[in-house]
Amino acid sequence: MRIDTAAGSILCDPWVNPAYFASWFPFPDNSELDWPSLGRTDYLYVSHLHRDHFDAAHLRTFVSKSATVLLPEYPTSELEDQLRELGFTRFLATTTNEVVELDGGLRVMIQALTSPTDGPIGDSSLWVEHDGVRLLNQNDARPTDLSVFKELGPVHAHLLQFSGAIWYPMVYELPETAKRAFGKQKRDRQFDRTFRYIDDLRADWVFPIAGPPCFLDEELWHLNDIFGDEGNIFPDQQAFVDEYRKIGGNNAVVLLPGTVATIGADTCVTRQPVEDVPAFFAAKEEHLVEYARRKRPVIEAAKASWRHPEIDVLKEMKHRIEPLLDESTYLAQGVGGPVRFDLVDGEGDGEVVESIVVDFPGRQVRRYADEKVRYRFRTRRPLVQHLLSIEEVDWVNSLFLSCRFSAARIGQYNEFVYSFFKCLSEERLQYAEGWYAEQKPDAEDVTLDGWLVQRRCPHLKADLTRFGIIDGTTLTCQLHGWRFDLASGKCLTSAGHEIRARRADAPEPARD
Ligand code: FES
Repeated sequence: MRIDTAAGSILCDPWVNPAYFASWFPFPDNSELDWPSLGRTDYLYVSHLHRDHFDAAHLRTFVSKSATVLLPEYPTSELEDQLRELGFTRFLATTTNEVVELDGGLRVMIQALTSPTDGPIGDSSLWVEHDGVRLLNQNDARPTDLSVFKELGPVHAHLLQFSGAIWYPMVYELPETAKRAFGKQKRDRQFDRTFRYIDDLRADWVFPIAGPPCFLDEELWHLNDIFGDEGNIFPDQQAFVDEYRKIGGNNAVVLLPGTVATIGADTCVTRQPVEDVPAFFAAKEEHLVEYARRKRPVIEAAKASWRHPEIDVLKEMKHRIEPLLDESTYLAQGVGGPVRFDLVDGEGDGEVVESIVVDFPGRQVRRYADEKVRYRFRTRRPLVQHLLSIEEVDWVNSLFLSCRFSAARIGQYNEFVYSFFKCLSEERLQYAEGWYAEQKPDAEDVTLDGWLVQRRCPHLKADLTRFGIIDGTTLTCQLHGWRFDLASGKCLTSAGHEIRARRADAPEPARD
């Protein structure tokens, strides 16, 4: 989407190329839009690093590098780093929930969500105001409520996700009837959640956006919502509009590639690229068949790039994952048992050629030893080889979202399993560990060289028993080199970020 105002344009999450092992494509096909012209934008907003929002190849080729990036306030600098690598140099670092005044009376505010379960450690929404017209691009973020946006005045356009964007329940090895029942529950919940947000904000116009993807590879074709399956979690925009009407909602506007919606204080005038939007969706299967035919070479080329027979999967997984298991307290405890990866060589139904266990209690990666495991994944070995070869730190933002696996588990869903596999770098793992540590009512202090210091670094929550080095009264956290004066609690590297510290033999400060 591009937001055009008299004070400048903001291009939001331009996604064109397939994501997650060539599984997800945008629907309808948007590759034929006039991208050279759309890419000439004043501002760029990439909400988060999920690959259906951050399309590196597209950003590199089509988006003007003189655009100013509106940056959400994330705990790690990964989004900025990756955009810099693509050639962007102008960044406006926003503070979450604070309005920024841009030139020409354009005002924006970004709300960043930063728990380990929000996107790839971070998801965000963008609020924009110009000339008395306000828009909230909530995108696929899930704030607990929308009050900070409501306080800024009535919103004219509310753009939000309404469809599924996950692998549940389709990949689970369950009887079809159970899968359908779970899928229906999920589909209903997605609609309910969207209606709740809409009711909360009460904007004049509602735009269902941010999905669903479509699946053009034959192996994944069954995931498209074209079979009248009430358990399909990927209903399209028209299905949303129909459902919304049932509860009296008549202010929804569908955006297709090329739609122009002109929003005023009391009006929304829409120019659609097709004559009849419901008829377009009624012919969805035909559009998909044609789209799949056009994109077959892209999928074939992607598949050919995944094989890396030279990679010894067990050895590489050991090398990459065991040091992180060693550092993990909360995530490892949270997972609480072994996680087994069954790797097949051919397509999904092929024979298992290697079975590897990530043993969280034992803190090791090893061959499966004919034991009982609570969590099991089955996927193709080339996919894991590819993840290891590109040193992917986020297996959610690659393997799991691809839906190119099946899963079985005993007992409940366990968010720690996925939180761990999206934190396969020291920086991410330390952040997630610290985040969970701080959820405890009494955040922990530790004794280091005669000082009683908070255990987690005020920067990105590294464990200071591992990363902290004290020299005199200065503590240096070696994860990023930030320094703190323990006597005053001041951070010597950056404003704010005070550390809680006192000499271990000093009396405990009085509490109110
Ligand atoms: S976590 Fe970055 S310096 Fe400590």
